[in-house]
Amino acid sequence: MNRHYVVTGGAGFIGSAIVRSLLREGAGKVLVIDNLLTGRESNLDEVRASIDFQRADICNYQEIAPLIAGAAVVFHEAAIPSVPRSIDDPVPSHEVNIDGTFNVLRAARAGGVGRVVYAASSSAYGDTEVLPKVESMKPSPKSPYALQKLVGEYYAGIFAGVYGLETVSLRYFNVYGPRQDPSSPYSGVLSLFMKAVLERKSPTLFGDGEQSRDFTYVEDVAALNLKAARAPHVSGNVYNAGNGDRITLNQAWQLLQRIEGAGIPALYGPPRAGDVRDSQADTTAAVRDLGHNPQFSFEAGMRLTLDWYRNSR
Ligand code: UD1
Repeated sequence: MNRHYVVTGGAGFIGSAIVRSLLREGAGKVLVIDNLLTGRESNLDEVRASIDFQRADICNYQEIAPLIAGAAVVFHEAAIPSVPRSIDDPVPSHEVNIDGTFNVLRAARAGGVGRVVYAASSSAYGDTEVLPKVESMKPSPKSPYALQKLVGEYYAGIFAGVYGLETVSLRYFNVYGPRQDPSSPYSGVLSLFMKAVLERKSPTLFGDGEQSRDFTYVEDVAALNLKAARAPHVSGNVYNAGNGDRITLNQAWQLLQRIEGAGIPALYGPPRAGDVRDSQADTTAAVRDLGHNPQFSFEAGMRLTLDWYRNSR
């Protein structure tokens, strides 16, 4: 029998990219679980006829367990993202990111799922003395969000070790690209940059703008998810999902000015609580074990992303 694929958070920015990649690779049955809190059905417009969309909440075990049972792979992307959001309003992010993840793992175990690929976060590292950040470094979360994502990762490891459920965790490094929602103050910084440049407005950089990130294009992350779903002998492991480069916010804004032929100065505000200073992935393990092979340079990804925002306005 053809087993199905489940993407929790499949109407979200990253989840919907995984859905499209699965369909491109010929996956027969793709089931999306999303409560549409931060996800949008319009992210799935092109593929709506090819998927089974279920509006359900990962905080409700009874609701999701039958949908997950029997799946070949569950890609667990559903979460309440954002470091500042978790600081301002920690209860919902705790419940979704920790209890919801526990429910997904529990349902996967009970339902005989082949593998769970979990969306972990580079925020788990916190500030490290050395760059790039390697999986063997001691985690040092600086915010509720970072801790919640780390707990999910630990739970995935426990379900692998104790219950024999196959799990793989991918620590995403600041994913960006088409469909990232720029409408909230909690939105990813590059989506806010895109909106600002197209509206010819100044973005506000928190601090001096010299903090750096390993911005990773969403299609590279989706491709890595599919690889993590197939790779042999990786259960229980954690991998960095980044490019291995880093760029400061000032550089990112300058690049966007150059691409757009604009000259808008950024504004500067106070540093943000819980913010990590520098972030850069060591991708050695992901390349070796999963065949990670990112295709998009920062400039290429930024150009594609800007085109998408321009066309979707
Ligand atoms: C963190 C995680 C990332 C995770 C994401 C989920 C790290 C290194 N990364 O991203 O893996 O997927 O949470 O939400 O912890 N900024 C501004 N102006 C703005 C908005 C943001 O200057 O208007 C700055 C922030 O202070 C920060 C940087 O831009 O220094 C990136 O912020 P954001 O896009 O929110 O992501 P992280 O918190 O880095």
